[in-house]
Amino acid sequence: MAKLGPILYRIFCMLLSFVLLTHSAPETALVTQLPGFSGTFPSKHYSGYVTIDESQGKRLFYYFVESERNPPKDPVVLWLNGGPGCSSFDGFVYEHGPFNFEAAETKGDLPKLHLNPYSWSKVSSVLYLDSPAGVGLSYSKNETDYITGDTRTASDSHAFLLKWFELYPEFLSNPFFISGESYAGIYVPTLAYEVVKGLDAGVKPILNFKGYLVGNGVTDEEFDGNALVPFAHGMGLIPDELFEEVTKECTGNFYNPLGETCENKLQKVYKDVEGLNIYDILEPCYHGSNIKEVTDDRIRLPSSFRQLGETERPLPVRKRMFGRAWPFRAPVRPGIVPTWPQLLDGESVPCTDDEVATSWLNNEAVRKAIHAELESVSGTWELCTDRIRFHHDAGSMIKYHRNLTLKGFRALIFSGDHDMCVPYTGSEAWTRSMGYDIVDEWRPWTSNGQVAGYTQGYANNLTFLTMKGAGHTVPEYKPREALDFYSRFLAGKPI
Ligand SMILES: *[C@@H]1O[C@H](CO)[C@@H](O)[C@H](O)[C@H]1NC(C)=O
Ligand SMILES: *[C@@H]1O[C@H](CO)[C@@H](O)[C@H](O)[C@H]1NC(C)=O
Ligand SMILES: *[C@@H]1O[C@H](CO)[C@@H](O)[C@H](O)[C@H]1NC(C)=O
Repeated sequence: MAKLGPILYRIFCMLLSFVLLTHSAPETALVTQLPGFSGTFPSKHYSGYVTIDESQGKRLFYYFVESERNPPKDPVVLWLNGGPGCSSFDGFVYEHGPFNFEAAETKGDLPKLHLNPYSWSKVSSVLYLDSPAGVGLSYSKNETDYITGDTRTASDSHAFLLKWFELYPEFLSNPFFISGESYAGIYVPTLAYEVVKGLDAGVKPILNFKGYLVGNGVTDEEFDGNALVPFAHGMGLIPDELFEEVTKECTGNFYNPLGETCENKLQKVYKDVEGLNIYDILEPCYHGSNIKEVTDDRIRLPSSFRQLGETERPLPVRKRMFGRAWPFRAPVRPGIVPTWPQLLDGESVPCTDDEVATSWLNNEAVRKAIHAELESVSGTWELCTDRIRFHHDAGSMIKYHRNLTLKGFRALIFSGDHDMCVPYTGSEAWTRSMGYDIVDEWRPWTSNGQVAGYTQGYANNLTFLTMKGAGHTVPEYKPREALDFYSRFLAGKPI
């Protein structure tokens, strides 16, 4: 520096500040290598913490994957997994992240990472956020913060976004979307609503918020609670007679059974479906460690069924997805939402398929590479945790969807049509119940020249879509088709 003349020095400083203003992603957050991956990153990755409450030491962890196409122009999309209590690394590792994780052959070794040709980072920058504090790699030094709920989670995630955009101002003008699945059916609209309130108050920098996406999302006690019976009937899991009887006895109200006859009929329905894999009725369900018996069951399925449940993902879909949502017989009601570990009360669940993520994210070298605290500080990473006590305190999401869509924000409500955890019948019914004009009547949509599912478009930019043959976590089962509808929605094109 001493050798530069005063004028040159001034120019140098101007250039430097120019660089800082136009591209100021924190270089300390740049991920330069990842254990298990030996190739070149197709785009820049950043990760680390944003402290949202200094006095409590409340820190939320993010992993940001820049778009592999045109990062200065492509949308920025926040992704949230549900639970409550589940880490958004679920999305990163198993669904639409930049890598496909291949389990190590030797137990204890790290998985191998391959590039995912259907990563959502092909067309957008994706921001994975572990939320609320206590979930995934996010934590607080004060454990009182782990008693939380919908409202607190939304305001914390909003605080996170405001700080995150301060760190990455070069993305402020990109179109911004919020997305998530399962219990994020609550996180997404409540957070979107915080963002919009901030915009209305005129003080918040998230100016380019465009809309949101919800996959197999929890929405409303009544609609979600009523979804199973018509789903089971439509899928051929219960006979016509039982469907007619249960509908008559319960007068169509299955979410809050009033009489004993209704309750008895419902028990019959539950009994008929109880052996199935709740996250995808076409997938085998592992009972204890008796895997062989179940595999045989699957082989007995007609081949067209087997294909419907198959995925183009080169690595297998998890067979058991413990902990991503509450059991179907207990729709989410106001008050405490038990996490799965809490429901099971310490009983261990054979859940080998979360091993890949668990071993990778608890590895010291991985933690260092992604700028996460070690286990001694932030705790062990779990796909879903029982560290938090979570209150569902936001009520039905329908009023949020109405507010947001009437304000011109675009919404895509999509459903893997073989999920029995949050069945498509519920999402189809509540979107219809909004009473918006149908502007694009129910029709098949295609991907790769094949019917991939069905869609219905409503006024106010509300779109409902099914993904044929997918379970609870749509991009995990149908990565190519999911990238297709995702790209079209972000681009504002018809699906
Ligand atoms: C933890 O947070 C609670 C609630 O905000 C507060 O009352 C308490 O003093 C905090 N504890 C510590 C050790 O800071
Ligand atoms: C939605 O909008 C209406 C009218 O603008 C407002 O009264 C209401 O509080 C808003 N919020 C929710 C969550 O419904
Ligand atoms: C739907 O979205 C488009 C693109 O963002 C926007 O121009 C249009 O005004 C929206 N329509 C309604 C009815 O909100």
